[in-house]
Amino acid sequence: MSREGKAALLINPGEPAVIETITIDSPGPNEVLIKIVASGVCHTDLTVKNLNGNGMPFPIVLGHEGAGYVEEVGPGVTNLKVGDPVVIAYRAPCETCPACLRGDPRHCYAALRAQPRIRRKLDGAQCSQVLRCGTFSEYTVVHQKAAIKMPSEMPLDKACLIACGVITGVGAAFNTSPVYSGSRVAVIGCGGVGLSVIQGARLQHASQIIAIDVNPVKLEWAKNFGATHTVNSKLVDPLQEVRRITEDGWDGGVDFAFEATGIPACTELAIKLLSYGGTATTIGFPAASDSVNLNLGDMATGVYWNKASLHVCHCGDTLPSHDFPLLADLYLKKQLKLDDMVTKHIQLADVESAFHEMETGNVIRSVIEF
Ligand SMILES: NC(=O)c1ccc[n+]([C@@H]2O[C@H](COP(=O)([O-])OP(=O)(O)OC[C@H]3O[C@@H](n4cnc5c(N)ncnc54)[C@H](O)[C@@H]3O)[C@@H](O)[C@H]2O)c1
Ligand SMILES: [Zn+2]
Ligand SMILES: [Zn+2]
Repeated sequence: MSREGKAALLINPGEPAVIETITIDSPGPNEVLIKIVASGVCHTDLTVKNLNGNGMPFPIVLGHEGAGYVEEVGPGVTNLKVGDPVVIAYRAPCETCPACLRGDPRHCYAALRAQPRIRRKLDGAQCSQVLRCGTFSEYTVVHQKAAIKMPSEMPLDKACLIACGVITGVGAAFNTSPVYSGSRVAVIGCGGVGLSVIQGARLQHASQIIAIDVNPVKLEWAKNFGATHTVNSKLVDPLQEVRRITEDGWDGGVDFAFEATGIPACTELAIKLLSYGGTATTIGFPAASDSVNLNLGDMATGVYWNKASLHVCHCGDTLPSHDFPLLADLYLKKQLKLDDMVTKHIQLADVESAFHEMETGNVIRSVIEF
């Protein structure tokens, strides 16, 4: 049986998202059809739009931070039943790549995906789904292992944030570059992802968590999530300021610096903020032409003399079947703050204004409610 629903689609490069009717086919083998209840608006959706689809064929169903209920299961689905509350994972390990085969699914090269089941009603065009999800939609179809069951007491308008922003940030500090207790941490960019890194560093008992942003409101909010210090990099030199805050008789610097802006210069800054042997982690989504300049030889901040490492974080190196229930549990135990991350509840039709606000306004996450 196919269904109809509304979705926010990109139809042509360079054009705003529009709300249109889509038709969704029944799930195939090992697939589940989800009725979306809530979806966070992540900067990556905006980036996909700004990069003209980033290689995905049009039309494109936006959204990848979604939660909902299982509405129909395909043949062979054993782990879920109709009515289960789920969060959709965009990186469920593929089980066939070299990393999965060597038993390291956190470093999976790919991800499980459903067959294309969504079409634009108007002309029958097959739709792409951002990051295999497509959650700015009343319905979507995903691989059964990409739908992670939530505890029944977990509110889905908060649970949806776990799907991307929260697992990316918390996972960066748990998995990609495990922050150790007592360490010094800097986080550049305090949006949904950066604030989640701050939360991850707090949960790992970092001793100093320095939030860096150009927006004073974000810096004020960062304290609520665990920042011990804030630096407005528009007003002061963040390099000098971080070294001052972390001064330890060895020229200071942080053990871990995380970039969560998508701006190459912020990755360069992350590397310069490190103390000897520290680790920088780049999280922001780059354009194809983006590059960074890594100085090797500067005695104070060069990668060679400072023995710096650079990690790349994809979705917090998550193993969703393990991590999503863990984060839900931390929320239910009041250790992970999700309520304060939802700045606004919006309607599907407000997607474009949510993008605009993300670029210009004081918003952590807008959450679309269906
Ligand atoms: N690697 C991944 O798996 C992954 C997952 C989710 C998001 N992302 C990417 O991470 C980035 C952050 O996403 P988000 O949803 O938190 O975005 P966001 O727009 O909510 O937050 C970005 C923050 O960066 C701040 N900022 C802008 N310019 C700055 C500068 N020069 N110095 C310091 N701070 C600056 C903004 O004020 C804002 O607070 C985006 O590039 C997004 O596409 C990557
Ligand atoms: Zn794999
Ligand atoms: Zn995202």
